Amino acid sequence: MNRKKVTILDLQRKKDRKQPITMLTAYDYSGAVLVDKAEIDVILVGDSLGMVMMGYDSTVPVTMAEMLHHCRMVARGTTYAFTIGDMPFLSYQADMAEAVRNAGLLLKEGGMDSVKLEGGREVVLTIEAIIRAGIPVMGHIGLTPQSQSKLGGYRVQGKTAVSAHNLLQDALALEAAGCFSIVLEAVPEPVATAISQRLTIPTIGIGAGAGCDGQVLVYHDLLGLFDKKLPRFVKQYAHLDQTVTDAFTAFREDVVNGRFPAKEHTYPMPQDELDAFLKELKAE
Ligand code: KIV
Repeated sequence: MNRKKVTILDLQRKKDRKQPITMLTAYDYSGAVLVDKAEIDVILVGDSLGMVMMGYDSTVPVTMAEMLHHCRMVARGTTYAFTIGDMPFLSYQADMAEAVRNAGLLLKEGGMDSVKLEGGREVVLTIEAIIRAGIPVMGHIGLTPQSQSKLGGYRVQGKTAVSAHNLLQDALALEAAGCFSIVLEAVPEPVATAISQRLTIPTIGIGAGAGCDGQVLVYHDLLGLFDKKLPRFVKQYAHLDQTVTDAFTAFREDVVNGRFPAKEHTYPMPQDELDAFLKELKAE
């Protein structure tokens, strides 16, 4: 396949032409290869990997070292999509110089094309510093999972006129700071639509309705890799959880009952070599 890699200019062009942008998460080489093959525009190495890959109950414990590890795998599997590395909790909040260094590491060592970080007006100065270092930044407002404890849980944001207005002000501030795009997570559709119409940069929605300029879903949610309750905004395109468990069960039953490996799964040996080997065995 000879495909030109997606850039932030392509994403902007899609917004300007009202062509929806597609984005999915991926966390390793094989996952990235599959997403890339489907010609998804953007691959996000989300810190959601803390939950779906590592089994934590939030994204808070994820470290820079873990993000870099996963970013490198995804970078090796991606030739088409524009890649974004998520900045994990505490990699950008405490100190601006540290934020710039960590963002840079996601490009320099992680092989990403850009970074994403959570927050509105409170992170504008940090975002400006990262962009000044030549690193493209995607914003993320609405439900920001790294601060779910402060928000009182994984709750829809922007449900009142005041909080919707605040979200719009955050979005405008992130655009003015130079973000190339913004994720809107768990925001009522009319609010996300209004923000998307006010901004000149693309918005990518997750639980924010059809008025956004693009949509993102988490890899494991889309594939149905877990048998667990999902947020209402998830559409499951497959139920691989059952398919994969069925395959593992069939393997176990085949081995236990002597059906695997069969003749066709084994390597033959030339008859004369086999005869010689058996003769030697007998002589021992
Ligand atoms: O970490 C993640 O997967 C995300 C998406 C839900 C946008 O931030």
